[in-house]
Amino acid sequence: MAANVCRSMLSHAATAVRGSPPVFPRMHTVTLIPGDGIGPEISAAVMRIFEAAKAPIEWEERNVRAIKGPGHAWTIPPDAKESMDKTKIGLKGPLMTPVGAGHPSMNLLLRKSFDLYANVRPCVSIAGYETPYADVDLVTIRENTEGEYSGIEHVIVDGVVLSIKLITENASRRVARYAFRYARSNGRSAVTAVHKANIMRMSDGLFLRTCREEARNFEDVNYYEMSLDTVCLGLVQDPSQFDVLVMPNLYGDILSDLCAGLIGGLGVTPSGNMGADGVAIFESVHGTAPDIAGLDKANPTALLLSGVMMLRHMGLHAHAQRIQTACYDTIQDRKVLTKDLGGNSRCSEFTDEICRRVQDI
Ligand code: IPM
Ligand code: MN
Repeated sequence: MAANVCRSMLSHAATAVRGSPPVFPRMHTVTLIPGDGIGPEISAAVMRIFEAAKAPIEWEERNVRAIKGPGHAWTIPPDAKESMDKTKIGLKGPLMTPVGAGHPSMNLLLRKSFDLYANVRPCVSIAGYETPYADVDLVTIRENTEGEYSGIEHVIVDGVVLSIKLITENASRRVARYAFRYARSNGRSAVTAVHKANIMRMSDGLFLRTCREEARNFEDVNYYEMSLDTVCLGLVQDPSQFDVLVMPNLYGDILSDLCAGLIGGLGVTPSGNMGADGVAIFESVHGTAPDIAGLDKANPTALLLSGVMMLRHMGLHAHAQRIQTACYDTIQDRKVLTKDLGGNSRCSEFTDEICRRVQDI
Protein backbone atom coordinates (compact mmCIF):
# COMPACT_ATOMS: atom_id res chain seq x y z
CA MET A 1 0.00 0.00 0.00
CA ALA A 2 1.51 3.30 -1.02
CA ALA A 3 1.88 6.05 1.51
CA ASN A 4 2.92 9.64 1.07
CA VAL A 5 4.45 11.20 4.12
CA CYS A 6 4.78 14.95 3.98
CA ARG A 7 8.52 15.62 4.11
CA SER A 8 8.34 18.90 5.96
CA MET A 9 6.37 17.18 8.71
CA LEU A 10 9.01 14.48 8.97
CA SER A 11 11.92 16.87 9.25
CA HIS A 12 9.96 18.90 11.80
CA ALA A 13 9.37 15.77 13.85
CA ALA A 14 13.04 14.87 13.61
CA THR A 15 14.13 18.22 15.08
CA ALA A 16 11.62 18.17 17.96
CA VAL A 17 13.86 16.93 20.75
CA ARG A 18 11.72 17.67 23.81
CA GLY A 19 8.31 16.36 24.84
CA SER A 20 6.29 13.73 23.07
CA PRO A 21 6.71 13.63 19.31
CA PRO A 22 3.96 15.42 17.36
CA VAL A 23 1.46 13.08 15.76
CA PHE A 24 0.74 13.71 12.10
CA PRO A 25 -1.71 11.63 10.11
CA ARG A 26 0.01 9.43 7.57
CA MET A 27 -1.32 10.46 4.19
CA HIS A 28 -2.24 7.80 1.62
CA THR A 29 -2.39 8.45 -2.09
CA VAL A 30 -5.29 6.90 -4.00
CA THR A 31 -5.88 6.91 -7.76
CA LEU A 32 -9.28 8.44 -8.46
CA ILE A 33 -10.93 7.51 -11.76
CA PRO A 34 -14.03 9.75 -11.88
CA GLY A 35 -15.50 7.98 -14.93
CA ASP A 36 -18.16 9.02 -17.45
CA GLY A 37 -21.66 10.53 -17.20
CA ILE A 38 -22.48 11.17 -13.54
CA GLY A 39 -19.00 9.88 -12.54
CA PRO A 40 -17.38 13.33 -12.03
CA GLU A 41 -20.29 14.60 -9.86
CA ILE A 42 -20.41 11.61 -7.56
CA SER A 43 -16.60 11.60 -7.32
CA ALA A 44 -16.61 15.27 -6.30
CA ALA A 45 -19.24 14.42 -3.66
CA VAL A 46 -17.11 11.60 -2.26
CA MET A 47 -14.01 13.82 -2.15
CA ARG A 48 -15.96 16.46 -0.28
CA ILE A 49 -17.24 13.96 2.30
CA PHE A 50 -13.76 12.46 2.76
CA GLU A 51 -12.40 15.96 3.38
CA ALA A 52 -15.13 16.72 5.92
CA ALA A 53 -14.24 13.44 7.67
CA LYS A 54 -10.54 14.40 7.60
CA ALA A 55 -9.72 11.09 5.94
CA PRO A 56 -5.95 11.12 5.29
CA ILE A 57 -6.29 10.57 1.55
CA GLU A 58 -4.63 12.45 -1.29
CA TRP A 59 -6.27 11.87 -4.65
CA GLU A 60 -4.41 11.37 -7.88
CA GLU A 61 -7.08 11.94 -10.50
CA ARG A 62 -6.80 10.04 -13.78
CA ASN A 63 -9.21 9.90 -16.68
CA VAL A 64 -9.63 6.49 -18.21
CA ARG A 65 -10.65 6.11 -21.82
CA ALA A 66 -9.88 3.37 -24.33
CA ILE A 67 -6.67 3.86 -26.28
CA LYS A 68 -4.77 1.66 -28.71
CA GLY A 69 -1.52 0.35 -27.27
CA PRO A 70 1.34 -1.62 -28.83
CA GLY A 71 0.15 -4.15 -31.42
CA HIS A 72 -3.12 -2.15 -31.70
CA ALA A 73 -4.50 -3.82 -28.60
CA TRP A 74 -6.96 -1.77 -26.55
CA THR A 75 -5.43 -0.56 -23.34
CA ILE A 76 -5.84 1.95 -20.51
CA PRO A 77 -3.98 5.29 -20.70
CA PRO A 78 -0.36 5.02 -19.46
CA ASP A 79 -0.78 7.79 -16.85
CA ALA A 80 -3.62 5.84 -15.22
CA LYS A 81 -1.56 2.65 -15.28
CA GLU A 82 1.46 4.44 -13.77
CA SER A 83 -0.65 5.96 -11.03
CA MET A 84 -2.21 2.62 -10.10
CA ASP A 85 1.18 0.88 -10.20
CA LYS A 86 2.37 3.41 -7.66
CA THR A 87 -0.63 3.86 -5.35
CA LYS A 88 -1.95 0.26 -5.63
CA ILE A 89 -5.40 1.53 -4.63
CA GLY A 90 -8.09 3.01 -6.86
CA LEU A 91 -11.56 4.45 -6.44
CA LYS A 92 -13.56 4.48 -9.62
CA GLY A 93 -16.85 5.85 -10.92
CA PRO A 94 -18.78 4.29 -13.82
CA LEU A 95 -17.17 3.93 -17.25
CA MET A 96 -19.31 3.68 -20.36
CA THR A 97 -19.25 0.29 -22.15
CA PRO A 98 -20.32 0.22 -25.81
CA VAL A 99 -22.56 -2.74 -26.65
CA GLY A 100 -21.75 -5.05 -29.56
CA ALA A 101 -18.89 -3.14 -31.17
CA GLY A 102 -16.15 -0.60 -30.45
CA HIS A 103 -13.65 -0.80 -27.64
CA PRO A 104 -14.01 -3.44 -24.92
CA SER A 105 -15.30 -2.54 -21.47
CA MET A 106 -12.70 -0.39 -19.69
CA ASN A 107 -14.12 -1.70 -16.42
CA LEU A 108 -13.01 -5.17 -17.44
CA LEU A 109 -9.71 -3.97 -18.86
CA LEU A 110 -8.88 -2.38 -15.51
CA ARG A 111 -9.69 -5.62 -13.70
CA LYS A 112 -7.52 -7.55 -16.15
CA SER A 113 -4.63 -5.06 -16.18
CA PHE A 114 -4.15 -5.31 -12.42
CA ASP A 115 -5.19 -8.95 -12.09
CA LEU A 116 -8.00 -8.05 -9.69
CA TYR A 117 -9.21 -11.59 -9.24
CA ALA A 118 -11.94 -11.29 -6.61
CA ASN A 119 -14.96 -9.04 -6.94
CA VAL A 120 -16.52 -8.42 -3.54
CA ARG A 121 -20.02 -6.95 -3.12
CA PRO A 122 -21.49 -6.74 0.36
CA CYS A 123 -25.28 -6.43 0.37
CA VAL A 124 -26.66 -5.25 3.68
CA SER A 125 -30.18 -3.89 4.27
CA ILE A 126 -30.21 -0.13 4.82
CA ALA A 127 -32.39 1.14 7.66
CA GLY A 128 -34.89 3.70 6.38
CA TYR A 129 -34.66 2.58 2.78
CA GLU A 130 -37.43 0.08 2.53
CA THR A 131 -37.43 -2.91 0.23
CA PRO A 132 -39.47 -6.15 0.53
CA TYR A 133 -36.51 -7.57 2.49
CA ALA A 134 -35.47 -6.21 5.89
CA ASP A 135 -32.71 -8.53 6.93
CA VAL A 136 -30.26 -8.96 4.07
CA ASP A 137 -26.67 -9.34 5.17
CA LEU A 138 -24.63 -11.25 2.65
CA VAL A 139 -21.57 -10.88 0.43
CA THR A 140 -21.08 -12.09 -3.12
CA ILE A 141 -17.52 -12.96 -4.10
CA ARG A 142 -17.15 -13.36 -7.82
CA GLU A 143 -14.22 -14.79 -9.76
CA ASN A 144 -13.22 -11.74 -11.75
CA THR A 145 -10.77 -12.78 -14.47
CA GLU A 146 -12.07 -15.71 -16.53
CA GLY A 147 -15.19 -17.81 -17.17
CA GLU A 148 -17.37 -16.43 -19.99
CA TYR A 149 -15.60 -13.10 -19.45
CA SER A 150 -12.38 -14.46 -20.96
CA GLY A 151 -13.76 -13.03 -24.21
CA ILE A 152 -12.81 -16.00 -26.39
CA GLU A 153 -15.40 -16.26 -29.13
CA HIS A 154 -15.30 -17.63 -32.66
CA VAL A 155 -17.64 -17.79 -35.60
CA ILE A 156 -17.50 -21.47 -36.56
CA VAL A 157 -19.56 -21.08 -39.73
CA ASP A 158 -22.03 -18.40 -40.67
CA GLY A 159 -24.77 -18.38 -38.01
CA VAL A 160 -22.85 -20.47 -35.49
CA VAL A 161 -20.77 -18.87 -32.75
CA LEU A 162 -18.68 -20.61 -30.14
CA SER A 163 -18.02 -18.80 -26.85
CA ILE A 164 -15.56 -20.35 -24.45
CA LYS A 165 -16.03 -20.48 -20.70
CA LEU A 166 -12.53 -20.76 -19.35
CA ILE A 167 -12.15 -22.20 -15.84
CA THR A 168 -8.72 -22.79 -14.36
CA GLU A 169 -7.73 -24.43 -11.12
CA ASN A 170 -5.47 -21.48 -10.22
CA ALA A 171 -8.13 -18.80 -10.60
CA SER A 172 -10.73 -20.95 -8.85
CA ARG A 173 -8.38 -21.65 -5.96
CA ARG A 174 -7.37 -18.06 -5.36
CA VAL A 175 -10.94 -16.77 -5.32
CA ALA A 176 -12.07 -19.67 -3.11
CA ARG A 177 -9.22 -18.96 -0.71
CA TYR A 178 -10.08 -15.27 -0.80
CA ALA A 179 -13.71 -16.09 0.14
CA PHE A 180 -12.72 -18.24 3.12
CA ARG A 181 -10.19 -15.69 4.35
CA TYR A 182 -12.78 -12.94 3.91
CA ALA A 183 -15.33 -14.95 5.93
CA ARG A 184 -12.80 -15.59 8.68
CA SER A 185 -11.58 -12.01 8.98
CA ASN A 186 -15.03 -10.44 8.72
CA GLY A 187 -16.74 -12.56 11.37
CA ARG A 188 -18.84 -14.48 8.87
CA SER A 189 -19.60 -18.10 9.53
CA ALA A 190 -20.40 -19.71 6.19
CA VAL A 191 -19.23 -19.82 2.59
CA THR A 192 -21.48 -21.28 -0.10
CA ALA A 193 -19.98 -22.24 -3.46
CA VAL A 194 -22.51 -21.52 -6.23
CA HIS A 195 -22.33 -23.74 -9.33
CA LYS A 196 -24.03 -25.72 -12.09
CA ALA A 197 -21.71 -28.70 -11.87
CA ASN A 198 -24.61 -31.04 -12.67
CA ILE A 199 -24.60 -29.58 -16.21
CA MET A 200 -21.11 -28.12 -16.72
CA ARG A 201 -19.48 -31.12 -15.17
CA MET A 202 -15.93 -30.33 -16.15
CA SER A 203 -15.72 -26.53 -15.79
CA ASP A 204 -18.00 -25.97 -12.80
CA GLY A 205 -16.87 -29.37 -11.56
CA LEU A 206 -13.32 -28.04 -11.36
CA PHE A 207 -14.47 -24.84 -9.64
CA LEU A 208 -16.45 -26.85 -7.10
CA ARG A 209 -13.71 -29.38 -6.42
CA THR A 210 -11.26 -26.55 -5.80
CA CYS A 211 -13.64 -24.80 -3.37
CA ARG A 212 -14.16 -28.10 -1.57
CA GLU A 213 -10.41 -28.59 -1.24
CA GLU A 214 -9.90 -25.06 0.08
CA ALA A 215 -12.73 -25.55 2.59
CA ARG A 216 -10.62 -28.20 4.30
CA ASN A 217 -8.06 -25.52 5.18
CA PHE A 218 -10.74 -23.43 6.91
CA GLU A 219 -12.46 -25.75 9.33
CA ASP A 220 -13.74 -22.84 11.42
CA VAL A 221 -15.87 -21.66 8.45
CA ASN A 222 -18.95 -23.70 7.47
CA TYR A 223 -18.95 -24.74 3.85
CA TYR A 224 -21.96 -25.43 1.63
CA GLU A 225 -22.51 -26.04 -2.06
CA MET A 226 -25.64 -24.97 -3.88
CA SER A 227 -26.83 -24.93 -7.46
CA LEU A 228 -27.17 -21.45 -9.00
CA ASP A 229 -30.90 -21.80 -9.70
CA THR A 230 -31.58 -22.97 -6.15
CA VAL A 231 -29.63 -19.98 -4.82
CA CYS A 232 -31.75 -17.60 -6.95
CA LEU A 233 -34.93 -19.15 -5.61
CA GLY A 234 -33.64 -19.02 -2.03
CA LEU A 235 -32.50 -15.41 -2.37
CA VAL A 236 -35.91 -14.09 -3.32
CA GLN A 237 -37.68 -16.27 -0.74
CA ASP A 238 -35.43 -15.68 2.26
CA PRO A 239 -32.11 -13.88 1.71
CA SER A 240 -31.30 -14.01 5.42
CA GLN A 241 -30.25 -17.66 5.01
CA PHE A 242 -27.14 -16.67 3.03
CA ASP A 243 -23.78 -15.44 4.23
CA VAL A 244 -20.75 -15.44 1.86
CA LEU A 245 -21.41 -16.70 -1.68
CA VAL A 246 -18.47 -17.56 -3.96
CA MET A 247 -18.92 -18.29 -7.65
CA PRO A 248 -17.54 -18.14 -11.21
CA ASN A 249 -17.54 -14.84 -13.08
CA LEU A 250 -20.82 -14.70 -15.02
CA TYR A 251 -22.89 -16.20 -12.21
CA GLY A 252 -21.38 -13.53 -9.97
CA ASP A 253 -22.25 -10.75 -12.38
CA ILE A 254 -25.89 -11.80 -12.41
CA LEU A 255 -26.28 -12.83 -8.77
CA SER A 256 -24.62 -9.67 -7.49
CA ASP A 257 -27.19 -7.52 -9.30
CA LEU A 258 -29.97 -9.68 -7.90
CA CYS A 259 -28.54 -9.22 -4.39
CA ALA A 260 -28.15 -5.47 -4.90
CA GLY A 261 -31.83 -5.43 -5.85
CA LEU A 262 -32.71 -6.96 -2.48
CA ILE A 263 -31.33 -3.94 -0.62
CA GLY A 264 -32.45 -1.18 -2.99
CA GLY A 265 -30.35 -1.39 -6.15
CA LEU A 266 -26.95 -0.58 -7.60
CA GLY A 267 -27.20 3.01 -6.38
CA VAL A 268 -26.62 1.91 -2.80
CA THR A 269 -24.39 -1.14 -3.25
CA PRO A 270 -20.61 -0.91 -2.92
CA SER A 271 -18.04 -3.07 -4.65
CA GLY A 272 -14.34 -3.87 -4.55
CA ASN A 273 -12.04 -5.60 -7.03
CA MET A 274 -9.24 -7.25 -5.11
CA GLY A 275 -5.85 -8.38 -6.35
CA ALA A 276 -2.66 -9.75 -4.87
CA ASP A 277 -0.48 -7.80 -2.40
CA GLY A 278 -3.22 -5.36 -1.43
CA VAL A 279 -3.81 -4.00 -4.96
CA ALA A 280 -7.48 -3.08 -5.29
CA ILE A 281 -9.97 -0.90 -7.16
CA PHE A 282 -13.22 0.01 -5.44
CA GLU A 283 -16.05 1.11 -7.70
CA SER A 284 -19.72 1.90 -8.01
CA VAL A 285 -21.19 -0.63 -10.42
CA HIS A 286 -24.22 1.33 -11.56
CA GLY A 287 -24.24 2.89 -15.00
CA THR A 288 -23.13 6.32 -16.17
CA ALA A 289 -26.75 7.66 -16.22
CA PRO A 290 -26.12 10.06 -19.13
CA ASP A 291 -29.72 11.37 -18.92
CA ILE A 292 -29.02 13.07 -15.58
CA ALA A 293 -25.29 13.75 -16.00
CA GLY A 294 -24.30 17.28 -14.96
CA LEU A 295 -27.74 18.04 -13.48
CA ASP A 296 -26.80 17.63 -9.80
CA LYS A 297 -29.32 14.81 -9.46
CA ALA A 298 -27.08 11.76 -9.06
CA ASN A 299 -26.87 9.64 -5.92
CA PRO A 300 -23.25 9.25 -4.73
CA THR A 301 -24.04 6.52 -2.15
CA ALA A 302 -22.63 3.51 -4.04
CA LEU A 303 -19.33 5.27 -4.72
CA LEU A 304 -19.20 6.61 -1.17
CA LEU A 305 -19.78 3.17 0.37
CA SER A 306 -17.17 1.74 -2.03
CA GLY A 307 -14.85 4.42 -0.61
CA VAL A 308 -15.75 3.18 2.88
CA MET A 309 -14.76 -0.36 1.82
CA MET A 310 -11.52 1.14 0.52
CA LEU A 311 -10.77 2.87 3.83
CA ARG A 312 -11.29 -0.41 5.70
CA HIS A 313 -8.98 -2.18 3.24
CA MET A 314 -6.37 0.48 4.04
CA GLY A 315 -6.81 -0.04 7.78
CA LEU A 316 -8.52 3.35 8.25
CA HIS A 317 -11.38 1.85 10.22
CA ALA A 318 -12.35 4.88 12.30
CA HIS A 319 -12.73 7.11 9.25
CA ALA A 320 -14.64 4.36 7.44
CA GLN A 321 -17.06 3.96 10.33
CA ARG A 322 -17.74 7.69 10.66
CA ILE A 323 -18.46 8.14 6.97
CA GLN A 324 -20.65 5.05 6.86
CA THR A 325 -22.64 6.20 9.91
CA ALA A 326 -23.11 9.71 8.45
CA CYS A 327 -24.35 8.21 5.18
CA TYR A 328 -26.68 5.65 6.78
CA ASP A 329 -28.03 8.23 9.27
CA THR A 330 -28.79 10.63 6.40
CA ILE A 331 -30.72 7.90 4.59
CA GLN A 332 -32.53 6.75 7.74
CA ASP A 333 -33.56 10.32 8.60
CA ARG A 334 -35.24 10.61 5.17
CA LYS A 335 -35.16 14.42 5.12
CA VAL A 336 -32.42 15.03 2.58
CA LEU A 337 -32.46 12.36 -0.12
CA THR A 338 -31.83 12.27 -3.86
CA LYS A 339 -34.79 11.42 -6.13
CA ASP A 340 -33.86 7.77 -6.63
CA LEU A 341 -33.88 7.33 -2.84
CA GLY A 342 -37.39 8.80 -2.67
CA GLY A 343 -36.47 12.41 -1.86
CA ASN A 344 -36.34 15.75 -3.61
CA SER A 345 -32.81 16.88 -2.89
CA ARG A 346 -29.92 17.50 -5.20
CA CYS A 347 -26.69 15.54 -5.13
CA SER A 348 -24.95 18.57 -3.60
CA GLU A 349 -27.56 18.91 -0.82
CA PHE A 350 -27.38 15.21 0.03
CA THR A 351 -23.57 15.56 0.10
CA ASP A 352 -23.78 18.67 2.35
CA GLU A 353 -25.97 16.75 4.78
CA ILE A 354 -23.51 13.85 5.02
CA CYS A 355 -20.63 16.33 5.48
CA ARG A 356 -22.52 18.10 8.27
CA ARG A 357 -23.18 14.83 10.06
CA VAL A 358 -19.70 13.43 9.62
CA GLN A 359 -18.23 16.48 11.35
CA ASP A 360 -20.47 15.84 14.38
CA ILE A 361 -19.56 12.18 14.85
C1 IPM B 1 -20.26 -5.18 -13.25
C2 IPM B 1 -20.67 -4.65 -14.58
C3 IPM B 1 -19.61 -4.98 -15.60
C4 IPM B 1 -19.54 -6.49 -15.74
C5 IPM B 1 -19.81 -4.29 -16.94
C6 IPM B 1 -19.89 -2.79 -16.80
C7 IPM B 1 -18.74 -4.65 -17.93
O1 IPM B 1 -21.91 -5.11 -14.95
O2 IPM B 1 -19.24 -4.73 -12.71
O3 IPM B 1 -20.93 -6.08 -12.73
O4 IPM B 1 -20.23 -7.08 -16.58
O5 IPM B 1 -18.79 -7.09 -14.99
MN1 MN C 1 -22.76 -6.48 -13.48
